[in-house]
Amino acid sequence: MAYEWHPIPVTVKKLALEGKIAEFKIGRKGYCLIWRNEKWKAFDAKCPHANGPFADGWIDENDCVICPWHRYAFDLKTGQAEKGGFFIEIYPIKDKKGQLFLGLKKKKGWFW
Ligand code: FES
Repeated sequence: MAYEWHPIPVTVKKLALEGKIAEFKIGRKGYCLIWRNEKWKAFDAKCPHANGPFADGWIDENDCVICPWHRYAFDLKTGQAEKGGFFIEIYPIKDKKGQLFLGLKKKKGWFW
């Protein structure tokens, strides 16, 4: 899979290291960043059920992000919700000498 790598703001990294679900934007789309079990994880900022803000949610003991609005749990390995057939994208993170980058899949031509 080919990715385009986008820098994540330093302040977002700092918030995530403090144990928060840190939110940031690239273009008009929002993403969340966490630091957990010695690994970075990034995922969509909005819940696919009804656009709940994951940054106001929490991570449970099963490594799921819990949406604060209706408490759906999303597995941070697969992105799959425990119910409802909902799914969030989990994004790759690169750490280049302390600067984090978010990987977004390269878009194909307009007719593909
Ligand atoms: S908006 Fe997230 S569970 Fe409903």
